[in-house]
Amino acid sequence: MKCRMHARSAAGGNTPKPVWGSLRFMRAVEFVDGTVTIAEIADPIPEATELLVRVEGCGINGADILQAGGNYPPPVGAPVTPGLELAGVVEEVGSSCRRFGVGDRVMAVVPGGAQAERCAFDESLAMPVPDVLDGPMAGGFPEVFETAFDALFTQGGLTMGDRVCIHGAAGGVGTAATQLAVAAGATVTATVRNSEIRSKVAALGATVLDPANFVDAGPFDLILELVGAPNWPANIHALSIEGRICIIGVGAGSKVEVNLVHLMGKRAKLFASTLRARPLAQRAQVARRVEHHVLPLVDAGRITVPVADTFVLADAAAGYDRFRAGNKFGKVIIVP
Ligand SMILES: NC(=O)c1ccc[n+]([C@@H]2O[C@H](COP(=O)([O-])OP(=O)(O)OC[C@H]3O[C@@H](n4cnc5c(N)ncnc54)[C@H](OP(=O)(O)O)[C@@H]3O)[C@@H](O)[C@H]2O)c1
Repeated sequence: MKCRMHARSAAGGNTPKPVWGSLRFMRAVEFVDGTVTIAEIADPIPEATELLVRVEGCGINGADILQAGGNYPPPVGAPVTPGLELAGVVEEVGSSCRRFGVGDRVMAVVPGGAQAERCAFDESLAMPVPDVLDGPMAGGFPEVFETAFDALFTQGGLTMGDRVCIHGAAGGVGTAATQLAVAAGATVTATVRNSEIRSKVAALGATVLDPANFVDAGPFDLILELVGAPNWPANIHALSIEGRICIIGVGAGSKVEVNLVHLMGKRAKLFASTLRARPLAQRAQVARRVEHHVLPLVDAGRITVPVADTFVLADAAAGYDRFRAGNKFGKVIIVP
């Protein structure tokens, strides 16, 4: 993605002179010393393989919170504007784009730049938006469903009848993973620390427990770790022989002491992953898998996107505060 000119701040400082007449500006989320603000920046110009999309909804994710705190810089070449997922309407197509056209509704995991009025990204990352999803719901779909699908199926090898435990199941990835595992015919146990939200997760088809009690509900063929340190070493005790653990989130702590003998005794397999750092072709492949396996279930109304709260772009800071506060069922969405 190219930029038509440098960003100018909402406060009006550091404003470069326009270099040509057709310049278009948009509003976007910007971090200034860890504070979430709104800046006016130049519209992105799509490269030959890119779509320019008018954003209708974009999710807030843990990575954005880390980036706001200066702890998770965007990959080289990615926009500094935050936002890893969006849905919207195609406004322009690059000369090499073949699949989508102006006016199509698309959604995607992007390397950054989603929390803005417009975003340009490689066409290979785009998925069509099922009619049953409105803009805000679709804006909260790509990151958590691609992450959950990749962790459960591509890495974790989930199959029908597997006993699965999902930690942190009330959040974005957790509600996606719970629905996917239930749809695949697994027996799903979900841990949720907030007792008031447990019934909502149970309605997705899981047996929901306080995180303190999950070991006795095992053994599990697959454990999806979205919380981190507090569930160790109990995860190993709750694992079946030859069980798998997939580590995706460590927001509650990343350092644990593990007895390797216990891992050996379970003949356990550990997987861990991030999505954002993968090469473009691999991220596109995840999108194709989700498109093929999950979108028909969305179309059929068997899978949906729980949205805890939506915020207009001008209130993005409040959206970030809502995400940080936790105690939510599903996603927090910004609507530009
Ligand atoms: N590796 C990847 O590629 C990848 C991709 C996406 C996300 N992630 C990571 O995966 C994690 C989950 O993402 P998300 O979007 O689902 O986040 P989320 O919506 O914030 O959900 C996190 C869930 O974990 C629960 N939780 C947090 N701390 C806990 C603790 N100490 N004990 C029990 N439960 C706890 C939260 O409960 P409360 O509401 O009670 O706090 C919440 O339900 C995050 O750490 C995120 O950064 C990784």
